[in-house]
Amino acid sequence: MPKLAILGGTPVREKPFSPWPIWREKDVEAVGEVIKSGKWGTRGPKVEEFERKFAEYCQCKFCVSVTSGTTALYLALWIAGVEPGDEVIVPPYTFIATANAAAMLGAIPVFADVDLDSCCLDPYSAEALITPRTKAIIPVHLAGEPANMDYFQLIKEKYGIAIIEDCAHAHGSEWRGKRVGSLGDVGAFSFQESKNLSSGEGGAVTTNDEELYEYAFSVHHVGRKRIGGAWYEHVILGANMRMTEFQAAILLSQMDKIEDEFRKREENALYLDSLLEKIEGIIPQKRDPRVTRRAYHLYVFRYIAEAFAGVPRDIFLRALSAEGIPCAAGYGLLSDAPVFSEGNFGPFNKLLKGEKLVREPLTNTKILARESVWLFQNMLLEKSDMDDIAEAINKIRENLDELKAYAERG
Ligand SMILES: Cc1ncc(COP(=O)(O)O)c(C=O)c1O
Repeated sequence: MPKLAILGGTPVREKPFSPWPIWREKDVEAVGEVIKSGKWGTRGPKVEEFERKFAEYCQCKFCVSVTSGTTALYLALWIAGVEPGDEVIVPPYTFIATANAAAMLGAIPVFADVDLDSCCLDPYSAEALITPRTKAIIPVHLAGEPANMDYFQLIKEKYGIAIIEDCAHAHGSEWRGKRVGSLGDVGAFSFQESKNLSSGEGGAVTTNDEELYEYAFSVHHVGRKRIGGAWYEHVILGANMRMTEFQAAILLSQMDKIEDEFRKREENALYLDSLLEKIEGIIPQKRDPRVTRRAYHLYVFRYIAEAFAGVPRDIFLRALSAEGIPCAAGYGLLSDAPVFSEGNFGPFNKLLKGEKLVREPLTNTKILARESVWLFQNMLLEKSDMDDIAEAINKIRENLDELKAYAERG
C-alpha cells in the first residue's frame, strides 16, 4: 500500500494543474490595440461590442458592463428599486458580496437556508421568510449549478418580488434550455481573475427588460442619458461604475475559448462524479435534472468524516493537498461574519442595528460549511487529471489508520 504523501510518501501527482488565467499572444495584442487607440476609458468600441456579445451569450436582450461582480449586484438591486429599510433574502453559503450589495443600499440582508443537494438558495426557505418589506431575492447559482428557477419565478409572480440572479460562478449554465442571467429580472456576473471568463476584475448586469436596462445604463454612467444627453447633463442619481476598454478587450479576446473550456469542464466533472460517487463518505454536489448545461466554477463535494474513521476535514484537506490535489474548505456560514453577526454596517449602522438577519436555523448551510470540499475550475480542463483526483482520495481511504494516528498526534 503506497504511503501517504503527508507522511513522507510519494504524492499521486507532482505535475501542476492547468494554469489560470490562460493567455495567448492575441490577448496581448488586444490590449496593445487599446493602448495604441488612445481610447483607454469607457463606452468605446470594445465595451459596446462586449456588451452586445455577452448579452447574446446569455440569451438576453441587454447587458451593461461594470467594474466588478460586487458592483453588478449593487446596481441590480438599485435598479430593482431596493431602498433603505427594505429586506433582501440571500443565501448564507456564498461570497460576501451577495449580502453586502443589499447592506450597501441600506437594505437588510435576511439569510434563508440552502438546499443540501444543489447547495443553492432553497426557494421554500426563502418563501417562508418573505415579509411586506421583502423587495428582492438573490439566488446564487453556486459553483455553476443553477438554483431552482421554476420556483423563484413562481415567487416573483405570486409576491411581485424582484429576482436577482447571482451568476458569478455560472457563465453559460442553463435551466430548462435557458441561460442564467435571462431567468430572473436581472443577472449579475463577475469577471474577477478566478472566474471562468475573466478580465482580472470586471462585471456585468443582464436583463430582458428595456426599462431596467435604460435605468441601469444611466446609473452606471453617473446618471447620464443613454442617448442624446450632454456630458455634464445628469438626470438621475448615479455613479461611475463603468468597465474600461482594456477589460472589454481582454474579455472579447478570451470569449473565443469559453465554449471549449465549458464543454471540457462539464464532461470532466461528470466523469469525476462517476468516480467519486463510488467512494464511501464522498457526496458530490447534485445536478438537478432540469439543468440542461452546467458551468463549473468549482467542483464541490461533501466529506463525511464518520465514513473516514473520524478524520477531521482539515486533516483530509491537508492530506489531499500533499497528494498534489489543491483543495479548500470553501465558504463558512456567512451570517457568522462579524459584519453581519455584530451589525457593523458602517454608514448604515443606525438603520440596521437591532435588525434580526438570521430568522431560521440554517441547518443545511451549517452542514455544508462543516463538510464541503472545493476543487477549482482550472483542475477540470484535462480528463486524465480526474483519475488522479479519485486516486488520491482512494489512497487516503486506504490509509485511514495512519492518517487517524497522524490527526491524533496533532
Ligand atoms: C457568488 C459570488 N457573487 C459575487 C461575487 C463578487 O464578484 P467580484 O469579486 O467581481 O466583485 C463573487 C466573487 O468572487 C462570487 O463568488
